[in-house]
Amino acid sequence: MTNEAGSRDESILITGAGSGMGRLAARQLADAGHRVAALDVNEAGLLETAEQHQNIRTFHVDVTDYDAVVAAVTETESSLGPIRRVYNAAAIMPLGRVVDQEVELFHRTMAVNYNGVVNVTKATLPGLLERNRGELINFASLAGWIPLIYMAAYGASKFAVVAFTEVLAHEHQDSNVNILCVCPPPVKTPLLDQARATVWPKIFDQGAPLEPQDVLDAIDAGLERNDLFVFPGRGSRLAWRMRRWLPGATWKRIHAIEGV
Ligand SMILES: NC(=O)c1ccc[n+]([C@@H]2O[C@H](COP(=O)([O-])OP(=O)(O)OC[C@H]3O[C@@H](n4cnc5c(N)ncnc54)[C@H](O)[C@@H]3O)[C@@H](O)[C@H]2O)c1
Repeated sequence: MTNEAGSRDESILITGAGSGMGRLAARQLADAGHRVAALDVNEAGLLETAEQHQNIRTFHVDVTDYDAVVAAVTETESSLGPIRRVYNAAAIMPLGRVVDQEVELFHRTMAVNYNGVVNVTKATLPGLLERNRGELINFASLAGWIPLIYMAAYGASKFAVVAFTEVLAHEHQDSNVNILCVCPPPVKTPLLDQARATVWPKIFDQGAPLEPQDVLDAIDAGLERNDLFVFPGRGSRLAWRMRRWLPGATWKRIHAIEGV
């Protein structure tokens, strides 16, 4: 984890900080002396994140609630200092075939995974642009580039994050604000339990899931290189290329793996 995440008078805001990669980033940055605003709907998860870690202030916030996000951003900037870095990591991942999933689930997935990113971006970007420095890190997924069976809702929400972040980065290409979109394959976090609780795509067994630390390290390396898109893990970039150049062959392989 880089220590170049701004001065100690600034703050770092992390959504989805009650679990997984958001939690790991919050703890590591706090341990490095940064003031961290940790946002999540999971209060117990937030408490666990902050336990024995100085410098973490928790905010029980649903990222789909724009007013609540704005209030948390305002409170963060007044109590912890101007926001220097944002990690948009909150997400849900209930899987299933389109015919088997309730319509509310599609709406909720888009609301959390995409609208949540929009809400936090809209609430934090003006400050970053005004100060003309900082980093905005949006978590998409390899599933935001490669459509997969059972992942229509989740994949669509991540495709939306990819498109949103790409446009945003180009709109501000002359600013010093570094905008990055990370697109990992499966990662060993509790998010995968949501797939276990619904449908487990066989494609997830094609390789061992990444460690959360691998993703955070890839983000840091991407920030140093000023990358817009980061594909952590061996083979991810190749899979991304395959889908772009050979979509038919990619679908053939997906059907063969899933057996449907
Ligand atoms: N784990 C993977 O396999 C994987 C792969 C690719 C991309 N990602 C992405 O990485 C990011 C981090 O995921 P993770 O694996 O650490 O997942 P995780 O499930 O461990 O953590 C996600 C956190 O988001 C929180 N959250 C859910 N809905 C929320 C809401 N409405 N408001 C606020 N917080 C909310 C959850 O409570 C949870 O604490 C996500 O955007 C995810 O889509 C994960």
